[in-house]
Amino acid sequence: MFRREREVLEGLNPARVCGEISRVVGLAAESHGLVAPVGAQCEIHSRGGAVLGAEVVGFRDDGAIVVPYGDIRGIAVGDRIFYCGEVPRVLAGDHLIGRVLNSAGEPIDIEGRSGPTAAGEVPLPAAPRRSARVPIHGARLNPLHRQRISGPLATGVRGIDGLFTVGRGQRMGIFSGSGVGKSVLLGMIGRGASAPIAVIGLIGERGREVREFLERDLGPEGCRRAVVVVATGDEPALRRVQAALVATAIAEYFRSRGEDVVFLLDSVTRVAMAQREIGLSAGEPPATRGYPPSTFALLAKLLERTGPGSRGSITAFYTVLVEADDLHDPVGDAVRGILDGHIWLSRDMASKGHFPAIDPLQSISRVMPDVVAADHLRAARELISMVARYRGVEDLLQLGAYVPGGDPRVDEAVRAWPAIELLLKQDPREKTPLEETVRRLQEAIRPPRRAAGAANSLSAAAQAAAGRARAVAVAAPAVKGPASIGLPGGAPRLKKASG
Ligand SMILES: Nc1ncnc2c1ncn2[C@@H]1O[C@H](COP(=O)(O)OP(=O)(O)O)[C@@H](O)[C@H]1O
Ligand SMILES: [Mg+2]
Repeated sequence: MFRREREVLEGLNPARVCGEISRVVGLAAESHGLVAPVGAQCEIHSRGGAVLGAEVVGFRDDGAIVVPYGDIRGIAVGDRIFYCGEVPRVLAGDHLIGRVLNSAGEPIDIEGRSGPTAAGEVPLPAAPRRSARVPIHGARLNPLHRQRISGPLATGVRGIDGLFTVGRGQRMGIFSGSGVGKSVLLGMIGRGASAPIAVIGLIGERGREVREFLERDLGPEGCRRAVVVVATGDEPALRRVQAALVATAIAEYFRSRGEDVVFLLDSVTRVAMAQREIGLSAGEPPATRGYPPSTFALLAKLLERTGPGSRGSITAFYTVLVEADDLHDPVGDAVRGILDGHIWLSRDMASKGHFPAIDPLQSISRVMPDVVAADHLRAARELISMVARYRGVEDLLQLGAYVPGGDPRVDEAVRAWPAIELLLKQDPREKTPLEETVRRLQEAIRPPRRAAGAANSLSAAAQAAAGRARAVAVAAPAVKGPASIGLPGGAPRLKKASG
């Protein structure tokens, strides 16, 4: 009874603490006379009558530094600034499922209901039956109250379910440079994951990419059970960070009801970049690659909020855009340290048309051993080791210089390769049940025995030369690139057979 009314009353701040804008530098405004804590929500009332939401991000001398939620243009010295409360909340509930929201949690998929509102004034639609106003910064969970991750969550993607099985409540990163397939893979997971609700944050994307993701990657089937929160790259930094917080808060709400939620955030790098803008405007010192310390504090806090709850779970996938395919980019490093595993998408594989370009040798799921059967784990490890063996002789195979018989383990990997590719390549529209993936994985590592690799069968003459050229195959793993053209030991140059 009166729950909603009580929440509204609690959110009110009867004292209208007020100050004046005294200076504007870059993206931030400084005020004097306003006494409010960091994180406080404010409103700037311009003399022209416009009202702009803002958040306190720091202090200089005796004034508060605020960053507006909207365009800073139009703010002038002497404008009044009011304190409106500390805890921004968002109305979460069943009514959001199937909807696209802005960073304030308001639907933007219906004409006439879009448009920013002032901070702290998320409008109250007639409260739906199952809903609650939840704090966007989340409530801390006692780590001892979290359940342990015990069962798998099928994503429908064979490369993930087979080799890097994700546990219900696990948090994974999807790393790659731009255009290697992060968003497409995220869409596949959004559509295929075995969870009743998907919460998706699209942060810092170009406007065009948002529709592309919803219509092409996620598709109508995925959209129906998804709550999508969007802040495009042209929105103010504070809104981009807020969108990530709001999406996380909505996922937390469904978890608190005992649901299993799949959470997708594309991309956490854009959130870090937005926080970098805010931190630098507030006067923080730039540290690693210009990222101030608050960026890493935000990432740790944000990424820690997903995972298993005391009941329910949030299985999360965060994409990380790695500049110039650099594995050791600071945001990537920080994210990798926080999460329970990562999928690395390889540009090299993508350029060969291998999609999804999941690199089995650079990816890891730390939870997998706890959530799959022993024979599945063994098969996955065997397949990864086959990929490593195959890669060692891949250049030779391409030159037609590979000779089987040197190392039976390498021959085995070469023979299994067509089946491995068939298993790991997947069309974005395709969704494979977990049991089928495991069965196909086990078949792939036990290919039918044949005299020579099907894909690289050699002529009879070459077979005869195999004995002499054995050194080639043994030396193969160390031989890379153009160097492999000059074969060691004067061995004959073997040509790929025509038949
Ligand atoms: N599973 C796939 N099958 C076929 N093509 C794919 C697949 N995944 C990605 N692609 C191709 O890669 C392009 C870039 O993918 P995208 O997910 O937008 O990259 P990113 O989000 O990493 O920038 C897509 O437009 C598509 O052409
Ligand atoms: Mg993308």
